[in-house]
Amino acid sequence: MSLETDARIVPATPEAIAKAARALRGGALVAFPTETVYGLGGDATSDAVVARIFAAKGRPRFNPLIVHMPDLAEAEVIALFDERARDAARRFWPGPLSLVLSRRAGGGVSLLASAGLDTVAIRVPAHPVAQALLRATGRPLAAPSANRSGRVSPTEAAHVAADLGDGVALVLDGGRCPVGVESTVLDLTGATPTLLRPGGVTVEALAAALGPIAVAGADPAAPRSPGQLASHYAPALPLRMNAVEAQPGEALLAFGATVSGGFAEVLNLSERGDLVEAAANLFTMLRRLDRPGFTGIAVMRIPEHGLGQAINDRLRRAAAPRS
Ligand code: TXA
Ligand code: MG
Repeated sequence: MSLETDARIVPATPEAIAKAARALRGGALVAFPTETVYGLGGDATSDAVVARIFAAKGRPRFNPLIVHMPDLAEAEVIALFDERARDAARRFWPGPLSLVLSRRAGGGVSLLASAGLDTVAIRVPAHPVAQALLRATGRPLAAPSANRSGRVSPTEAAHVAADLGDGVALVLDGGRCPVGVESTVLDLTGATPTLLRPGGVTVEALAAALGPIAVAGADPAAPRSPGQLASHYAPALPLRMNAVEAQPGEALLAFGATVSGGFAEVLNLSERGDLVEAAANLFTMLRRLDRPGFTGIAVMRIPEHGLGQAINDRLRRAAAPRS
């Protein structure tokens, strides 16, 4: 099929935006333009939808995703803002700046969107189509750049459809993205604002508005880089993989229909052996089993294909010896 006749690419008219919002509320993935790059959007409150975003991108790891909101007031529903964060938001939103903040308890954002972390990256995009879509959908939208892992970020609708194939239900065509690079990611959870990813807002502009900015990786005062952050969450209990038989007092994270007995508690990532369902359940179930009453968490073998790669990557980090 040629790109020109791909029926999923539609001009971002009000009708198309309304249709896209319905699709998003029904759990579909929709690509949409922002001022930076096209995003692959999905309902950020659904673990299952977020798992499908990771599957569509073909990422071998779970990196936390940026959650898009229409304005600061809505953003405050899902994260904790102090005066410094509100000040940054008022100066740079809407615009190409993502703020990493503590998740608000009960805020409803999928734990998978945060890759199990206690923080969430939020941005309020300036693009009129992104704004209209967020308001019409009425849900926080998780939206990584709408490319397959390892490819360049798309700045035109045709790039998205060519790259993502069946994973995306609809691509709203809003023309070329004006900024063309991703948003700047700024971590506001520590004493000094820390740049995690350079992007559409310059570090000079941030420093002029907010004072000194640390740079992750470059700065000894800023030990966390996005890559390291992705491995931040690990359970407190010891974890072992490819478990077959129970050891005393262990809890089991199972996968598939055949589960051995003798474990103190069992949660099943996916009884039907579905890796997308397993990914959706991973962080929530790990946290539920990570209780002092157990001696450890045993995890059954997870197949190393599709989202199994990302699940195993995370489990291997959790199972690695602690320093
Ligand atoms: O311009 C953009 O930001 C685009 C458009 C679509 O809005 N979106 C985008 O999202 O680039 P994504 O998911 O591809 O980029 C997420 C970046 C990664 O570098 C990730 O490590 C960082 O944000 N990030 C997300 N949540 C984080 C968190 N809780 N803590 C630290 N870093 C986080
Ligand atoms: Mg990207």
